[in-house]
Amino acid sequence: MATLKRLFISIVPTGTPFSFALSIKRVIALVALLVAASITLSAAESREPNDHIGKALPDYVTGDECLFCHRNDIASGWKVNAHQLTLRPLVAAPNTNKSIESNPDLQPFSRQVQFVLGEKEHLRLLRKSTAYGQLEILTAHLARSPDDTEKILVTDEGPFHWNKDTFSQRCAGCHTTAVDSRTQSFSATSIDCYACHGVVDLEHTNDPSLVHLTKKRPHSPRLIGETCGQCHIRTGKSKASGLPYANNYVVGDDLFSDFQVDLSEATLALTPPRERHILANIKEGRDNESAETCLSCHNVHRASGRKHRRVVKSDHCFICHAPNDMKLVYDRREKHHSLCGY
Ligand code: HEC
Ligand code: HEC
Ligand code: HEC
Ligand code: HEC
Ligand code: HEC
Ligand code: HEC
Repeated sequence: MATLKRLFISIVPTGTPFSFALSIKRVIALVALLVAASITLSAAESREPNDHIGKALPDYVTGDECLFCHRNDIASGWKVNAHQLTLRPLVAAPNTNKSIESNPDLQPFSRQVQFVLGEKEHLRLLRKSTAYGQLEILTAHLARSPDDTEKILVTDEGPFHWNKDTFSQRCAGCHTTAVDSRTQSFSATSIDCYACHGVVDLEHTNDPSLVHLTKKRPHSPRLIGETCGQCHIRTGKSKASGLPYANNYVVGDDLFSDFQVDLSEATLALTPPRERHILANIKEGRDNESAETCLSCHNVHRASGRKHRRVVKSDHCFICHAPNDMKLVYDRREKHHSLCGY
């Protein structure tokens, strides 16, 4: 089935998330599901503990299929989740479309743009490449206007052009799903369930503890740090591929066997709070120094960090708050990252 999906890739948005998988495959999968929910497709055989470097990525059940069953608990929140929206078709972003058409620097490209990358403040524009499972990125950097979030400003000087290599070599691993480092091609735009929940065994309908990231399955802080860190570590590099994103990582693999990152105290001390709280937490999990994880503070599906206020105070809090009065020590709106180019 993996080969089928990869052979018949076609860029057809089929609902949320925008999957590149063949729709016939999906129909077959759904029928199989309905007729015999106990048939586990090809998911079960890929629950191996070893890493997937240099090997084919496992086939996975796509988000559309998950949401077919999880429409009540997950679907409505997922439509507006930053992970689901990070790389979306331009047609799903009408205001961005209008801004592009009215901007003289972007106008020559306006009819070619097919995708928007970035959700909150900083954006980039993309189009399909002739190479399979790859996109070309327009060199222009865009940002939302601080006084009118509907308006998009170009923040650098033209003239602009389409770049063939940057997206697959520097971005794809964290803004699309199931990138194979060997070909640098992806199987779905944006971030599908698989990126965090891993290869999901459909037997989980009877035994939810088979899925990653459920409260019914105990996870080590290290594993949670690795799951989120595969993308939220933006200062790492794969030893084997040399790329700045994780190499064929599948949740459950050992991220740090190949993904090299400097988490030393000296480096963390120089990292701004926004990024430092993430790297410090991943380091503590990796080195068994704390039971606190991203999930102690963040609820991914509700896109909320409110529960962080109830976490027991530790030095980790003082990355962002002053120890005496708990005032914030950084500006939440201030965002920069050299890897993502903003
Ligand atoms: C055939 C229907 C079906 C499909 C397809 C399906 N699930 Fe489930 N899922 C269930 C049922 C039933 C449960 C157990 C009942 C519950 O706890 O909600 C469950 C439970 C879960 C849980 C644990 C819920 C908890 O309470 O902690 C997670 C996480 C999950 N599914 C994720 C997924 C993901 C990700 C996919 C796609 C890769 C998926 N499911 C596909 C039906 C399905
Ligand atoms: C190692 C993973 C990784 C790689 C590689 C990566 N990104 Fe990102 N990117 C992220 C994460 C994580 C965020 C969200 C960070 C946050 O909200 O704090 C992000 C956010 C963004 C945003 C949205 C910023 C905003 O909040 O408005 C844009 C635009 C972006 N990246 C572009 C790029 C581009 C272009 C490349 C390639 C040149 C790239 N990224 C490579 C992980 C990555
Ligand atoms: C960015 C990571 C991420 C992605 C992508 C993701 N999830 Fe989750 N999911 C989580 C986390 C984290 C939890 C909660 C674990 C906890 O709090 O114990 C969770 C919990 C769940 C649960 C259990 C019910 C709940 O609300 O706690 C279900 C069901 C679920 N996810 C389904 C899905 C489906 C379906 C998709 C794709 C459409 C998906 N998830 C995509 C991270 C993710
Ligand atoms: C496959 C890559 C990937 C994985 C895995 C991932 N993230 Fe993200 N995350 C991103 C990107 C990219 C963004 C920014 C999207 C944008 O603004 O375009 C993001 C945004 C976020 C945000 C800001 C959301 C918002 O609503 O503004 C939080 C919080 C977050 N992620 C937490 C997590 C946690 C916790 C996990 C692990 C359970 C996780 N992420 C796993 C790539 C990932
Ligand atoms: C001690 C609690 C705590 C822990 C642990 C924690 N975070 Fe956070 N994180 C926060 C708070 C609070 C914010 C600020 C939210 C805001 O500005 O609204 C934040 C902000 C973020 C942001 C930027 C969100 C945005 O809306 O722009 C991302 C991305 C993120 N965290 C990811 C992670 C990841 C990944 C981990 C695990 C490696 C993690 N965090 C661990 C509390 C925590
Ligand atoms: C990534 C930075 C970050 C970290 C780490 C962090 N906070 Fe926060 N905290 C914030 C931000 C931003 C706000 C304001 C918005 C919000 O509530 O999400 C906040 C608000 C709060 C509030 C509410 C304050 C008020 O005036 O309403 C409390 C209480 C709090 N944090 C406690 C903690 C504790 C306890 C920890 C450590 C376990 C912690 N924070 C770690 C960023 C952080």
